[in-house]
Parts: sequence; structure tokens; C-alpha cells
Amino acid sequence: MTTIEGGETDANPAVRRTDDWDAGRLHELAAEHDTPLYVQDLDRVRENCDRLLAAFPDADVRYAVKAHTGRATLEAVREAGLDAECASAGEVDRALAAGFDGGRLHYTAVNPPARDLDYVVDVAEREPDLTITAGAVDTLDRLAERGYDGRLCLRVNPGVGAGHHEKVRTGAAPKFGVPYDRAARVAREAAGRFDLVGIHAHAGSGIDPDQLDSHRELVSRMGELARELTDPGAPTDAPLDLEYVDVGGGFGVPYREDAEPLDLPAVAEATRDAVGDLRGLALAIEPGRYVVADAGVLLTRVNTVKPTPGETVVGVDAGMTDLLRPAMYDAYHPIRNLGGADGEPTPADREETPVTVAGPICETGDTFCTNRAITRPARGDLLAVGIAGAYGYEMANQYNSRPRPAEVALADGEATVVRRRERLADLTRVERESAEVDR
Ligand code: LLP
Repeated sequence: MTTIEGGETDANPAVRRTDDWDAGRLHELAAEHDTPLYVQDLDRVRENCDRLLAAFPDADVRYAVKAHTGRATLEAVREAGLDAECASAGEVDRALAAGFDGGRLHYTAVNPPARDLDYVVDVAEREPDLTITAGAVDTLDRLAERGYDGRLCLRVNPGVGAGHHEKVRTGAAPKFGVPYDRAARVAREAAGRFDLVGIHAHAGSGIDPDQLDSHRELVSRMGELARELTDPGAPTDAPLDLEYVDVGGGFGVPYREDAEPLDLPAVAEATRDAVGDLRGLALAIEPGRYVVADAGVLLTRVNTVKPTPGETVVGVDAGMTDLLRPAMYDAYHPIRNLGGADGEPTPADREETPVTVAGPICETGDTFCTNRAITRPARGDLLAVGIAGAYGYEMANQYNSRPRPAEVALADGEATVVRRRERLADLTRVERESAEVDR
């Protein structure tokens, strides 16, 4: 096996493209489990973890659980050696169930509901090595009111954001973090009330190679702040005893077939350069998408082919309720036609043709692509919507009273149903239980 660099090898390439999946296997899975079906390959999740750890050998690598919270995925990530970064009580609960202990749990509170704070403070009593990251003085007060004086990380708003869409650029959005110019003061105050262990910032999600300057800028600001806070020679303030500087996640993946993957070793080097001398503090990163995106595909079956004067509309059984990203962010996902239900490869004589692939939801925005050239679909064909492992199932919902899809996890080629397909009865379960409570 040839090691290229930073953990990337022939056997562990920087990206798994949708074309790299075994079409025959995907046909089998669709035949056995029906569609729409998410397929998540845990071996690929492990490979992604390995490349991250190899590129950032000295850093604390924390998986942003929100990208994919499935139990099997969390266990694979834990076994690979990553910590868990959680955005809610629910995610902390899932991470605990998947075997992460407090020392590997980081809870990032953003306008946290009281219920979430109560839950996490309670967990922290049992698991005192858990760290809470907070980005508002108000949140610090609410933690103190609950008697919390444990490990705390201060989220800073570095004033620089990046990401694939304005809705996921956090770094300069006032919602997130304490403004950079107040951060040192707030950190010193916080150190008097909590065990202040780190500072944190997150630029945004889906940072592509052409946005690395913003990443570098954020990292360099955080390095400067860390040096200011820990400076043993500062004239007035005693140095703070911090453990780490967390520069967030956001590592992009190439959704488009012709997009280059991130050069992870180069990103790691740029990060180390930009952060500067941390005087013994650790660097921490929080990738979510990078860990799981190319480990997943969404399989969907063509049920309608409708030529219209302007375009051919291809109706499929998955929609924006199964994969919201195209509707919400105009996100691009590769689409591969795997051919008919008999498992035969797509006939070579079918040419590529521009199509709009649309789901079953009564919204115009319920499309996976518009006028995109793919191998001409016929009714019964199986389509693979690629790079769907991050924020795919996680953002699935029941709008239009559509049960959520099933998901299988692959490990060593073996498939296990990890989230069964929801049934119609699942749609009304909460209502029926409420009626019982009222009685
Ligand atoms: N750390 C924090 C504090 C975050 O808020 C996030 C993502 C991450 C880490 C991980 O970012 P990643 O490495 O996955 O880019 N639903 C959107 C993405 C929202 C991301 C929110 N925060 C999408 O489908 O593109």
C-alpha cells in the first residue's frame, strides 16, 4: 500500500465518490430493505477518522455528533479514538449510550433550553470530566445558578465566518460566541467561577479549499487570544491555566464530481502555522461532515418519468423530507443512475440526458437537481444520491406525513438495519400517546 501523505493511502483515498460504490451491492440492499434507504458504511467512517488523526496527530479531534447521530456511527467514531462534540442534551444522551465517557464529551450550549442545561449539569455531576462550552455571559450565569463550577470552555465570536451557504456561516454571526474584543475579559471572569479549560470558535460548515484564508484568519485570531490569556509576563493579569484552543470544524467535502478533495495535510499545516506557538496548549478540532459525508448514500427508486416541453421530470420516492439539504441550501449532491430493479448495470445504450429529479412532497423546492445530465432514467431504476452521510438522515422529518426512511450500516460488507423504516403508525404515535395521557 502506498502512503501518499497524512494518512491518505491508495486504500484510504481523500474522498469516496458515488461512482466508487459497488452498484450490485446497492441493488441488493435496495431489494432487501426497499427505498428510500440510507446506506452508511462504517468502514469508510473509520477511514475518515484515521485520515483526520494522521493529519492532526497532536490535536484533540472531536466528532461533531450532529452530522450523524446513529449509534453504530458513534461507536465506530469512539473506537477510532475521536471525542464527541454535542449540541444538545439529546446528543449528549446518545454519546453516553454509545460509550463516550465524560472526559471525551464536549457539550456546546447555544441558547440552551433550561431542560438541556439541567440534564447536562446533572450528567456532569456523575461525569466531572465533561466540558461545557458556552458563548454568552447569560449562559455562564445560568450554569452558575445551577451550581455548576466544572470544566468550561468559552466560545468566542472571531468575527470571521466561512461555509458552503450563508445559513451555515457561524463565525461572524452574533448568535454565536462572545464578541472577540470582549472575550479576554469574559474569559478572566469565567475563570473565577469555573474551571476554565479552553477557548473555542467555529467558522462555519463546508469550508472548501478556496475559503481556507478565512479558516487561517480565525485560527490565527484564536492563537493570539490564547497567548494573551496565558501570557506569564502580562503586566496586570495572572496567566490562565488553559488546556486547549478549539478552532471548530467545517472541513468541506467535494460534493461535485469534478471538485477536488481538501488537501487535509495542507490544511493541518496551515492550521498549525496560523495558530502559532501555543505554549503547551493543545489544538482541538471538531469535524462533523468530514467524518461521515462520503460514507453515506441515499437510495431512491424512480416511479415516474414525465417529459414536458421544457425538461424531463423524474419522480422518485425520496424527497426533501429524507434529504433536506438541496431544498434548504441549494446543496449539490451527485446522482448516479444504477439502472433497473433486476440489478443489471445501466444499459450502455442509454445516453445522458438533462433531467429534474423531484420527490413526492407538495413543494416546488422538493427537487434533488434541476436539468442535470444523468444516464436517462426509466421507471424502476435505482438512483444513488451521493455524499449523503452527513446531515442527511439527521435532518429527515415527517412533513407531508411521510415516515422517515430506513438506514442500514455496513461493516466489513455486512449490512445491519440500524434505523428501521418508520411506519404510518409512527406518524401518529405521539398524538395517540398524548390522548392516553389526557384520559
Ligand atoms: N462545531 C460546531 C460548534 C458546529 O456548530 C458545527 C456544525 C461543527 C462543529 C461541525 O461542522 P462540520 O465539520 O460538520 O462542517 N446542516 C448543515 C450543516 C450545519 C452545521 C452546523 N454546525 C448542512 O447540511 O450543510
